[in-house]
Amino acid sequence: MRWRRDVHLVSRIESSDSSMGCRGFVSFRVVWLLLLGLVVSVGGIGANWGTQATHPLPPAIVVRMLKDNGIQKVKLFDADSGVLKALANSGIEVMVGIPNDMLYSLANNVVAAQNWVANNVSTYVSSGGVDIRYVAVGNEPFLSTYNGTYLTTTFPALQNIQAALVSAGLGSQVKVTVPLNADVYQSSTGLPSGGDFRSDIHDLMIEIVKFLSDNGCPFTVNIYPFISLYDDPDFPVAYAFFDGYSQPLNDGGTTYDNVFDANYDTLVWALQKNGYPNISITVGEVGWPTDGDRNANPTYGQKFNQGFMNRIMQGKGTPLRPGTIDAYLFSLIDEDAKSIQPGNFERHWGIFNFDGTTKYELSLGTTNSGALVPAKGVHYLSQKWCIMSPSASLDDSNLGPSVSYACSHADCTSLGYMTSCGDLDSRGNASYAFNSYYQQFNQLDSACQFPNVSTITTSNPSSGNCTFKIMIATTQTSGIKRRVVSVQNLYY
Ligand SMILES: *[C@@H]1O[C@H](CO)[C@@H](O)[C@H](O)[C@H]1NC(C)=O
Ligand SMILES: *[C@@H]1O[C@H](CO)[C@@H](O)[C@H](O)[C@H]1NC(C)=O
Ligand SMILES: *[C@@H]1O[C@H](CO)[C@@H](O)[C@H](O)[C@H]1NC(C)=O
Ligand SMILES: *[C@@H]1O[C@H](CO)[C@@H](O)[C@H](O)[C@H]1NC(C)=O
Ligand SMILES: *[C@@H]1O[C@H](CO)[C@@H](O)[C@H](O)[C@H]1NC(C)=O
Ligand SMILES: *[C@@H]1O[C@H](CO)[C@@H](O)[C@H](O)[C@H]1NC(C)=O
Repeated sequence: MRWRRDVHLVSRIESSDSSMGCRGFVSFRVVWLLLLGLVVSVGGIGANWGTQATHPLPPAIVVRMLKDNGIQKVKLFDADSGVLKALANSGIEVMVGIPNDMLYSLANNVVAAQNWVANNVSTYVSSGGVDIRYVAVGNEPFLSTYNGTYLTTTFPALQNIQAALVSAGLGSQVKVTVPLNADVYQSSTGLPSGGDFRSDIHDLMIEIVKFLSDNGCPFTVNIYPFISLYDDPDFPVAYAFFDGYSQPLNDGGTTYDNVFDANYDTLVWALQKNGYPNISITVGEVGWPTDGDRNANPTYGQKFNQGFMNRIMQGKGTPLRPGTIDAYLFSLIDEDAKSIQPGNFERHWGIFNFDGTTKYELSLGTTNSGALVPAKGVHYLSQKWCIMSPSASLDDSNLGPSVSYACSHADCTSLGYMTSCGDLDSRGNASYAFNSYYQQFNQLDSACQFPNVSTITTSNPSSGNCTFKIMIATTQTSGIKRRVVSVQNLYY
């Protein structure tokens, strides 16, 4: 399970510590400036390809889509063999990932690290034609919400993986890194120049930075202006985007009119102060979700991502790191099986929908049309939906438990205040929930038998911005396996 960032931005207003309550680490009243600094090198733009979906697109279709869109780099969260095989001979650079739950064994066992590299890197690089360039060791392991679970294992695992790469003869070709949340640093002044690493992990961070620097590896940080806005209702909306903000932050003569820059440069200051002014920085994740929250919609998603891409295309970095920014968009495709612990928006980060259709116009500067190219060759299940039976009454005592059951097993994150299906009435809500459950279980008849309250229809119930999905056809072997159950008697 991935948690979305605890980014600590200091909003340059007076910070209300309460807004960061769940994020732990708020030692001073800082204004956060999280800036995303992306320094994408000549390598162009990258994308995060996560696969926590009930009906993931077949990897070959995704690889075709990546190529059609001129996306030259992908960042994975594991080293799935189906995904890596599909990337073979694609010309796409790959960052494979090691999940946090593997850090313990890799930290404590040199042989385990060697096996991991042999099985998940060497084979693909040497004979598989996969252009693996990086291994991401852990994913945001120092997030405050993890309560320090990975503090002692991350660095030893990093060292063991690096040593294993060297002994496999891949030391110069494949670099290690640790994607970190922006909450590993903070500013005591609310300005980027006050940036330094979090005091509870300061020494550990310096050890890691030194190790990365000594081995020519990048520092990877995930930066999320959306979270700044989500966490703090008083956060100035315009400061989250790239169109300028009327009250830019003045940091000793350097001005910041967007929180990405401020966040990124807070990191640059932290690195500089500790003796590493030149280490390369990769933005491991940057993006904006399109549903599940009042600030998560296609309009804002388009605005943020296009604003970001325009800077990438212009080769415009941050005040302290002018020039190209190395970055991976978060994310490529929506993932309907992600934990919504961080919020309902968590399943909607894709620049593409779950089925590879586009959400909005976005120019990555890589295609002639200047628009995103949707996935090709996608096969869908039948054109049928499960809805609340027109003859059922809203007073039917089966209704409430049925909707709760459906939502607890399927995906109702598009229902709620100011979301894509937020304007549905009670019948619409129930229908949406039933359909989500029905599609997730591959349109099994038994998945549309909520006692006396559901029925199957061939008439599309979608309306306005609210899409009643039809899932894509997947093979039994792909995706997150779901136990298919009859919904009858489920909740009694
Ligand atoms: C990677 O290698 C390890 C150790 O050999 C293995 O257990 C694991 O299944 C491999 N694949 C992934 C996706 O981690
Ligand atoms: C962290 O601690 C809190 C409070 O004790 C607890 O609720 C939460 O489950 C813990 N999280 C992890 C990942 O251990
Ligand atoms: C950083 O790079 C600059 C310019 O190449 C160089 O003068 C300086 O010595 C470097 N600093 C460190 C700490 O490596
Ligand atoms: C539908 O979505 C578009 C794009 O985000 C938005 O401009 C419009 O206001 C939405 N319509 C409704 C009824 O919410
Ligand atoms: C529809 O469902 C959402 C999410 O559960 C809820 O917030 C909303 O109040 C419901 N609307 C109606 C009209 O029942
Ligand atoms: C469904 O409706 C029928 C006919 O009204 C009724 O006899 C039956 O008890 C209902 N079933 C449930 C589970 O409510």
